[in-house]
Amino acid sequence: MTLLRVIDLDGTEHEVEGRTGITLMENLRDLDYGVAAVCGGMCACATCHVYVDAEWVGRLAAPHSDETDLLGDLATRRANSRLSCQIKFTPELAGIKIEIAADE
Ligand code: FES
Repeated sequence: MTLLRVIDLDGTEHEVEGRTGITLMENLRDLDYGVAAVCGGMCACATCHVYVDAEWVGRLAAPHSDETDLLGDLATRRANSRLSCQIKFTPELAGIKIEIAADE
């Protein structure tokens, strides 16, 4: 188990034991304060939108064009926005800090 730090919509930070080898979304969707992930990770809904802490965002693989296009449709998009279903949670990401974005 590997640590994730998750800030919920109320601004409360939680430390969560995450599973590596699956996506961040899959780690987040079972939390009461996590993401809805309506499309199940097909990069089609954006209900897995998160903000990645500035310290971490540069360590992630760059988003594919499908992810960038979908994020571009969001009014809540920020420079550090990512779709958590497109990020594989690996041991190298232990301690990553993310904030859940509000659904649109
Ligand atoms: S779960 Fe739908 S885009 Fe990520």
